[in-house]
Amino acid sequence: MNTHITLLAIESSCDETSAAVLRNGQLLSNVTANQEVHVQYGGVVPELASRAHQQHIVPVVAAALQQARVTVDDLQAIAFTRGPGLLGSLLVGASFAKGLALARNIPLIDVHHMHAHVLAHFIEDPKPPFPFLCLTVSGGHTQIVHVKSPTDMQIIGETQDDAVGEAFDKAAKMLGLPYPGGPLIDKHAKNGNPLRFTFPEVSTPALNFSFSGIKTAFLYFLQEQQQKNPAFIAENLADICASMQHTLITMLLKKLRKAARQTGISHIAIAGGVSANTGLRQALAEMGATEGWQVYVPRFEYCTDNAAMIAMAAYYKYLAGDFCGQEVSPMPRMAF
Ligand code: KG4
Ligand code: ZN
Repeated sequence: MNTHITLLAIESSCDETSAAVLRNGQLLSNVTANQEVHVQYGGVVPELASRAHQQHIVPVVAAALQQARVTVDDLQAIAFTRGPGLLGSLLVGASFAKGLALARNIPLIDVHHMHAHVLAHFIEDPKPPFPFLCLTVSGGHTQIVHVKSPTDMQIIGETQDDAVGEAFDKAAKMLGLPYPGGPLIDKHAKNGNPLRFTFPEVSTPALNFSFSGIKTAFLYFLQEQQQKNPAFIAENLADICASMQHTLITMLLKKLRKAARQTGISHIAIAGGVSANTGLRQALAEMGATEGWQVYVPRFEYCTDNAAMIAMAAYYKYLAGDFCGQEVSPMPRMAF
């Protein structure tokens, strides 16, 4: 009898098509296809994302199974991202997973994309002990999550408007950098002075964030400077990027510190695409040293959207016997 728990997981919430195989909690493969098609539009175009997922899903799943050296006969369950995300994108992954589960007569597991970002910390060591706090920062979300167990977590602070990844991407767009601009701001910031320019921070209640004010302040700042010097951006790109990045990171870490002091929790993790940011990683390590935290940062490929984290979340649901039926439909605005 096969006593292994081998899961196939599919992630298709936004613009990455990803498939992963996990056996008994150990990752065997994680294959991701990026969608270049959106670059020319300066952002993700939902209809094009959905079509690209349709093109990528079969080869990506085939590659994940092959790299893991398993076949569909070895699978005990199929997992997929149910939401939140773009409806047309989610539908591709969900339909594929449902079809395969039906054909193989094995259980289906629906996964919440934001739970999975948090559980990306369990793919590799060191794994945070419970309870821990996770600052989840992506293109669509900015959340401080109180994690009590793999299946019991609660948002204690979140953005009231834009996500921090969106602030990075929109700032980059204003600077004429291509989409997604977050990694490019990071790159240019490495050569710049983070204290050269200051932008007004908006004060927000409790543990919540707001990034729409700084976006507008940044736009006005650039317009004013360019009126004085049309070459302002080109001549000061590194300092502008470093200063904007520094402001965004400071806003994030202030609330994270407040959350840690309020809850008395000293195991602190970051997750989501923006946790790939080198400035944030460094600033978190520094604050961690001052505050006496144990800090957890996933490897780069597990920060941005990937199916390995979906597989990890699905593994805990599998152990809890938490499966879903064929009637399940994607939820673009899935509650946490
Ligand atoms: O988690 P993710 O891959 O997708 C969503 O679920 O949104 O996050 C994507 C976001 C984008 O806004 C991207 O610009 C940002 O993460 N990002 C970064 C960096 N790498 C990715 N932002 C700043 N610095 C980076 N190095
Ligand atoms: Zn994500």
